[in-house]
Amino acid sequence: MPEEQQLHGGLTNAGKVTRVGDTVRRPQSRTSASTHALLDHLERVGFDGSPRFLGIDEQGREMLSFIPGDAVVAPYEAWALTDEALISVAVLLRRYHEAVASFDATDHVWPQSLPSAYRGGLVTHNDPNLDNFIFSGGHAVALIDFDLACPGSAVWDVACAGRLWAPLRDERDVPQPLRGRSIGRLRTFVEAYGLPEPERARVSDAALSALDWCYRIVRDAIADGHQAFGRQWRAGDRMRAERTRRWIIAHRQHMQALLAESDACCHTRGNEVQ
Ligand SMILES: Nc1ncnc2c1ncn2[C@@H]1O[C@H](COP(=O)(O)OP(=O)(O)OP(=O)(O)O)[C@@H](O)[C@H]1O
Ligand SMILES: [Mg+2]
Repeated sequence: MPEEQQLHGGLTNAGKVTRVGDTVRRPQSRTSASTHALLDHLERVGFDGSPRFLGIDEQGREMLSFIPGDAVVAPYEAWALTDEALISVAVLLRRYHEAVASFDATDHVWPQSLPSAYRGGLVTHNDPNLDNFIFSGGHAVALIDFDLACPGSAVWDVACAGRLWAPLRDERDVPQPLRGRSIGRLRTFVEAYGLPEPERARVSDAALSALDWCYRIVRDAIADGHQAFGRQWRAGDRMRAERTRRWIIAHRQHMQALLAESDACCHTRGNEVQ
């Protein structure tokens, strides 16, 4: 029996995600069956940027394929903060959306729903945090941790990812090399994804909604007794979330104006994803 090696990066299942040989073992949630159907669909359509679902192990954990590479975890290495890394995340997110567009979500149960303005037929990832991407050679090669996936829309996922990767937050919470560059990087992200014009105008509002949505999940988990979230919340996440909220509101118009001027060259690529 190969040894179990603990994997680091996430908080929701901190200490419970392990590697066994070429597989990853993770606890299941009440909606894991839907996530497994989603991963099976991605495999069927030949998408290579997500783990394969391999079944349930003898302890009731989900088994996924282990993807070689590095997740982005603090303290961030220089390669993780490059525009090249940012663009690779946007391109991978777009490829994911194109692959998932043919997945029918209707007969599945999802862990939660998105704000009504952003709900749609596209099953979005919804948690494109830095540690939920695997990188190889400085480029994002896979998205992992689809536990929060549910029916959404492209603009929502672009706003979720753009907020975290730009990142859109108070300067004091931005890694030093990226200070003063957040809004420019958001534009780079949106252009690399190829979000069409009418949707670009919605990104800054969606980013604010995504922040509130994400922290509601954190607060609910804390109320349910999640220890690691509780510790982080008290240690500064709460104050950071409030600063982020104020920052997004203060810069909303600037973001909208810059995105409206975005390069028109990217609007014709790939299949349409809504
Ligand atoms: N399929 C995989 N291939 C390679 N590494 C993986 C894989 N799944 C997880 N990991 C590693 O394990 C870490 C934690 O995994 P995961 O994101 O599933 O945990 P989590 O606690 O559910 O995360 P979160 O707090 O984002 O919900 C990742 O950041 C990554 O480093
Ligand atoms: Mg994770």
